[in-house]
Amino acid sequence: MRSQPLMEMRRLQENDCQLLASAIWLLIPESDRGGNIASHAYLKQALADKNCYFILCVVDSTPIGYLSAFRFPAVESTSFQVYLYDIVVDEKFRRKGIGTRMIEELKRCCIEDQISRIWVGTSLDNEAAKRTFEITGARKVGETYVEYIYYLDEGA
Ligand SMILES: CC(C)(COP(=O)(O)OP(=O)(O)OC[C@H]1O[C@@H](n2cnc3c(N)ncnc32)[C@H](O)[C@@H]1OP(=O)(O)O)[C@@H](O)C(=O)NCCC(=O)NCCS
Repeated sequence: MRSQPLMEMRRLQENDCQLLASAIWLLIPESDRGGNIASHAYLKQALADKNCYFILCVVDSTPIGYLSAFRFPAVESTSFQVYLYDIVVDEKFRRKGIGTRMIEELKRCCIEDQISRIWVGTSLDNEAAKRTFEITGARKVGETYVEYIYYLDEGA
């Protein structure tokens, strides 16, 4: 008889470089990571930065859920805030509450760090993401959004 899969969910620590690299490799679409994986040194630096939150769900040592978020000083207000940059769950594991649990873990870490707000955005038609944000307590503050990027590495 096969034993129950071992599921673990937690914020990554400084020595979790290999786990972070596999999560990015397995869960982030190639188009979003430019086909490459960041170097060990680069990931290590991000993991050591207390402003970076990487939360993973791991089943039998394989990452199946990934969340990244970043803390910044919102000087227009009076406290630090967090931007939830990415959340993804392996297709085979969706609709089992994993996205919800990763956000709850982020909220727990943020409350511990005295963060007052978490920001997140998604496409207007991303029903899964919208529902996940809503059931974890996020309030919708707008419904029109246009996205731009400054590609600083491409010259003027
Ligand atoms: C968004 C995502 C992370 C949600 O993860 P998940 O583990 O499937 O979410 P949960 O199981 O915790 O579900 C949370 C809620 O969303 C609902 N939901 C999940 N997928 C849904 C879908 N395709 N359509 C409608 N509702 C959906 C669930 O039913 C649940 O609501 P309920 O409790 O009222 O039933 C996942 O769908 C995903 O990885 N999508 C691709 C990446 C992505 O678009 N990320 C967001 C970018 S900002």
